[in-house]
Amino acid sequence: MAVFLGVDIGTSGTKTLAMQEDGTILSSATVEYPLYSPHPGWSEQEPEHWWQATIKSVRKVLKAGKIKPVDVKGIGLSGQMHGSVFLNKKHEVIRPALLWNDQRTAAECAEIEERAGGRKKLIRMVANPALTGFTAPKILWLRNREPKNFDKTVQVLLPKDYVRFRLTGEFATEVSDASGTLLLNVKQRKWSRPLLSKLELDAGLLPAVYESEDVSGHLTQDAARLLGLTKGVAVVGGGGDQAAGAVGNGIVKKGAISATMGTSGVVFAHSDEVQIDPEGRAHTFCHAVRDKWHVMGVVLSAGGSLQWYRNQLCEQQVALAKRQKVDPYQLITEQAAEAPAGSEGLFFLPYLTGERTPHADPDARAAWIGLSLRHSRAHLSRAVIEGATYAMRDSLEIIKELNIPVKEIRLSGGGARSEFWRQMQADIYGQKVVTINAEEGPAYGVALLAAAGTGAYKDVVEACGATIRVIESTNVNPKNKKTYNQAYPVYRGLYSSLKTDFQEIRSLVD
Ligand code: XUL
Repeated sequence: MAVFLGVDIGTSGTKTLAMQEDGTILSSATVEYPLYSPHPGWSEQEPEHWWQATIKSVRKVLKAGKIKPVDVKGIGLSGQMHGSVFLNKKHEVIRPALLWNDQRTAAECAEIEERAGGRKKLIRMVANPALTGFTAPKILWLRNREPKNFDKTVQVLLPKDYVRFRLTGEFATEVSDASGTLLLNVKQRKWSRPLLSKLELDAGLLPAVYESEDVSGHLTQDAARLLGLTKGVAVVGGGGDQAAGAVGNGIVKKGAISATMGTSGVVFAHSDEVQIDPEGRAHTFCHAVRDKWHVMGVVLSAGGSLQWYRNQLCEQQVALAKRQKVDPYQLITEQAAEAPAGSEGLFFLPYLTGERTPHADPDARAAWIGLSLRHSRAHLSRAVIEGATYAMRDSLEIIKELNIPVKEIRLSGGGARSEFWRQMQADIYGQKVVTINAEEGPAYGVALLAAAGTGAYKDVVEACGATIRVIESTNVNPKNKKTYNQAYPVYRGLYSSLKTDFQEIRSLVD
């Protein structure tokens, strides 16, 4: 049976998986690499590390799955979005890549808004406002701060598209990842000439744009030798990690929503039409499904808040979990379950690393609010999990405001593995939630895109239909839903009340 490889160039490592045509996963492997922060707020990686990790993880997967190279019929690429790789005319990397979580470009975001004629006009051109993590401000930063490097630059690539270049020799990207550059006319699915001209950027810096399941190139002889594959294997467009992850969750039809709780939390809605949030709170990007779009909200520290709580304040449970050989999160959620829904008036704001949706505020900070003598550690634990889930609801509310139907919410990531958190999500979102049989995320999504793009399926919708199914559902507890519906507006108001204080706090630590 034909085999397809999905390669996901993540922030902590590259994960490759091999999938049989029928959706069965044969093997997977992850190879990690470092992240550099040469100044506070900067976040960089070496593109060469991504390439070496791709070679190693593909080789590991072939070996572990006992896969014959001739059986590999297609490769799909996914990756961390928004990063920028700058290449010179010899096609060498000029400097380390700036990543999606790099915060150095506030001045360039303001410059983009100004050159575009204001925030509203910018949103009209590229469907989104300028955020520090996006690619366009990074290109302007290079021009403003490292002009010599900018003068040498002939091509700017996203992380997975640099790996594509090493695999195929082609400069290419696809619509979902290109949307996160802030340079794509998201509605028309092509580079925005008007914005490029306002920013005085040459369109030649950018690669060709494909639909996600289209073949963008073929494996070169050299790359095939390094990876242990045969020359000429098709490499499809693939997708940015969020769109690819959504495909891996089967979010390819109207009404389908996913709520994925990793370090960050993402609420992702498929949309048949382009739906733009006029306030720019949620992102509107092209989907990895042909001629479809998605709206998504990103909570920067969702699972990350619980991880911070575990690391800083749960020493006892971590030690006990080690002795009992269980996951410390299990003990923390067991304790959280001892407190009632709503944590008796205790709230946690999960803004440990600022917030993206809906506040787009790097200065926002986390807090417990409402503490009284009555509160115990169980309340603290429960409030952290509730706070992260309220933040996800913020994104869900925007999706509903845009009249995108929310028929089925599929959970994935850490928040889907805990029964307690599944129930809480149903109660806070106010509707039934489900889990599915696939847990592999973006790498699986792009393996499916590779299968569709090379003819194993008619399209990616058919590929998802054949491989992904719902395995469990959690109904709402009406009493808890009522409690959360009363508490959520209070949660929502807390950010507005504290917004200016967050700025003052920042000035204290700058
Ligand atoms: C999406 C985003 C992250 C990165 C890294 O907008 O910023 O998902 O792609 O995972």
